[in-house]
Amino acid sequence: MNAPTLLVTGAAGFIGSHTVIELLTAGFQVVGVDNFSNSDAKAVDRIQALKTEVLDLRGVNFKFYKADVRDAKALEEIFKTHVVHGVIHFAGLKAVGESFEHPLAYWENNVGGTMSLLKVMQEQNVKNLVFSSSATVYGIPESLPIKEEASTHAFSPYGQTKLVCEHLLEDFAKANKDWNISLLRYFNPVGAHESGLIGELPNGVPNNLMPYVTQVAAGWRDQLSIFGSDYDTPDGTCIRDFIHVVDLASGHVAAVQAMLSNLETHPLNAPKFSINGLNIFNFGTGYGVSVKELVETFESVTGQKLKHAFVERRQGDVPAVFADARKAKEFLGWEAKKGVDQMCSDAWKWQLNLKQTEVKA
Ligand code: NAD
Ligand code: UFG
Repeated sequence: MNAPTLLVTGAAGFIGSHTVIELLTAGFQVVGVDNFSNSDAKAVDRIQALKTEVLDLRGVNFKFYKADVRDAKALEEIFKTHVVHGVIHFAGLKAVGESFEHPLAYWENNVGGTMSLLKVMQEQNVKNLVFSSSATVYGIPESLPIKEEASTHAFSPYGQTKLVCEHLLEDFAKANKDWNISLLRYFNPVGAHESGLIGELPNGVPNNLMPYVTQVAAGWRDQLSIFGSDYDTPDGTCIRDFIHVVDLASGHVAAVQAMLSNLETHPLNAPKFSINGLNIFNFGTGYGVSVKELVETFESVTGQKLKHAFVERRQGDVPAVFADARKAKEFLGWEAKKGVDQMCSDAWKWQLNLKQTEVKA
């Protein structure tokens, strides 16, 4: 029996690329789709090189298509070319600040893209979907750690698009009981593959903390601005639940294995975990780490002195966010294992592997 095939949208992106590698390692065949709006073709080359030259994964295929998920015709062609068993939908825009300036682009891409994909999946009779949601849907949490049942509230256009997609998929799941849909709410993914061959390289100036940190350490940027030192937290800086991207990627493998547990073609003979219908999971470590602690850990792990300054708070930042991560452990048998030290050292290894010419802005 052939191993199942998963279609991964946003496969050239940060989380997508790491997930493709973990899926291939677990024995799945993978079809990737990306329009390169926040990545480029080199990311696909890097995945192929890591797969074949380093990990020696020759028995599984990674086929890639440059396409936009809003292009239903292009998607249809891909679904007709491959027997797809499930989809992991990463493709979307993700910069909170930018979403205030370009709300239409965010709604069009994130909501329009999800609707387009869902329609094609329905036509093609593919009924397993993992959706990339975000801890941003919790807004300002009422209590910590945040459980999946906590109330949701979006305060940016980006957050709205994630929440609206969740609602759409909930409505859809109610009407289509034979579908399996997992809504995965990521906390703060950082780090890179331990090979240093794939990692995070957003187009332009990074919005997120870790790529900014590594680019300052590499001399690509002058200094890190730490947004706010007067929060009501132990050291005055914000607290986040940083999760190693490879842990996050392996969580997707666990979710997919549990969703596909009834497939005859499943590579595992007796999957231990099985989920049906619509399920929501937090994907975090369960531990909060402050921005200052992350910067200090980066300095001590890499030996790089990081030029930084404490500046005004960034609009829209929530003081402290971390997950209650127990549900994913109970229902998927998955939990994050890698610590902040490794997140920093792997992110740095990736940065060192990049050439100066990679700088986009
Ligand atoms: P990323 O920007 O690195 O990857 C997204 C990929 O999707 C990019 O390669 C981009 O080119 C592609 N893409 C965007 N729109 C597309 C479209 N219409 N058609 C085809 N491809 C398209 O982002 P990431 O960090 O890998 O995030 C992946 C998903 O996880 C996103 O949906 C994001 O909102 C969500 N998420 C990310 C974080 C985070 O901190 N990184 C946190 C929570 C949720
Ligand atoms: N930060 C800085 N300086 C920077 C960048 C960030 O001090 O140059 C601080 C922020 O103020 C925040 C922390 O580092 O306190 C983390 O910021 P990020 O931008 O890396 O991440 P966020 O927590 O703001 O948001 C991330 C994703 C969102 C997702 C959210 C879910 O970017 O897509 O996690 O919790 F919705």
